[in-house]
Amino acid sequence: MPIETAIEIRALKKIYQNGFIALDDINLEIKRGEIFALLGPNGAGKTTLINTVCGIVQPTGGHVTVSGFDNVTQYRQARAAIGLVPQELTTDAFESVWNTVTFSRGLFGKPRSPSYITDTLKRLTLWDKRDEEIRNLSGGMKRRVMIAKALSHEPEILFLDEPSAGVDVELRKSMWAQVRALRDTGVTIILTTHYIEEAQEMADRVGIINKGKLILTEDKQTLMQKMGKRQIIFVLRDHINSIPQTLAGLPLTLEDEGSKIIFTCDATLDNDISETLDRLKESGIRPKDIYSRESSLEEIFVGLVGAV
Ligand SMILES: Nc1ncnc2c1ncn2[C@@H]1O[C@H](COP(=O)(O)OP(=O)(O)OP(=O)(O)O)[C@@H](O)[C@H]1O
Ligand SMILES: [Mg+2]
Repeated sequence: MPIETAIEIRALKKIYQNGFIALDDINLEIKRGEIFALLGPNGAGKTTLINTVCGIVQPTGGHVTVSGFDNVTQYRQARAAIGLVPQELTTDAFESVWNTVTFSRGLFGKPRSPSYITDTLKRLTLWDKRDEEIRNLSGGMKRRVMIAKALSHEPEILFLDEPSAGVDVELRKSMWAQVRALRDTGVTIILTTHYIEEAQEMADRVGIINKGKLILTEDKQTLMQKMGKRQIIFVLRDHINSIPQTLAGLPLTLEDEGSKIIFTCDATLDNDISETLDRLKESGIRPKDIYSRESSLEEIFVGLVGAV
């Protein structure tokens, strides 16, 4: 296996005891040092996939290697390479932040390193709270303690299962910055999210999972370019009832009670706006303003999966 592969998933299958197929032939490679965002609606199989890779859920079939170690036959080495922040928060409520993170490092058999714990808490802006009992922290702070705990044994790969759940917008943005900074230190990051904006902001690559199947993995920029649409909006001086016959054949639609003409093209397509503008003028339509908009990852996602 090439060294630049952090995780390799081959023909992974998970059928729960009740017969439910939660993962159906998943094949995926995560490159070292990338931020990979796994998107999918509720119940798509995101948590099952993460937990299977981390060895918490037993696969029904297929193979996973983590930093080159088989996650079943070489479980300890594979697990040591991983930090996991689970979707459900579980912390020892009466312990202090410092002790929780220090204890977690010990569980992995790593020698004590107060300087590493100090750095980690500072990076996650938890330093001021180091002596606080966890039960006295806010939800967003608790989630950051979970991240610090997951990082306590200096893993190469960090899984974040819904890191923004219950975190307010401002804190979310600062968390994104912290996650990016982590990646810059060489940590590979795999996150699941419902917030498409989060994937759009952070991810290098995006995977879309629906009903246990990975329906797409793509470089984010490529995905945006391939599937994104660009629209030019002509704001009219006077409302019109319909697009004039003379303009039939152009990809034009009316919006906002006939006050705007929308020209839709592929995000990558070079289009000649001036020609369209000339044709509008020839038809007696004089825009008072022109602007453009691009479809977001969210629109692309809804187009593929049908719901968020
Ligand atoms: N222990 C289990 N036994 C049976 N079915 C399960 C079990 N755990 C999960 N499932 C089912 O597997 C499917 C995938 O669940 P999973 O938690 O992986 O989804 P998810 O994509 O993480 O969803 P969410 O966005 O809500 O977190 C769901 O239909 C769920 O009900
Ligand atoms: Mg989940």
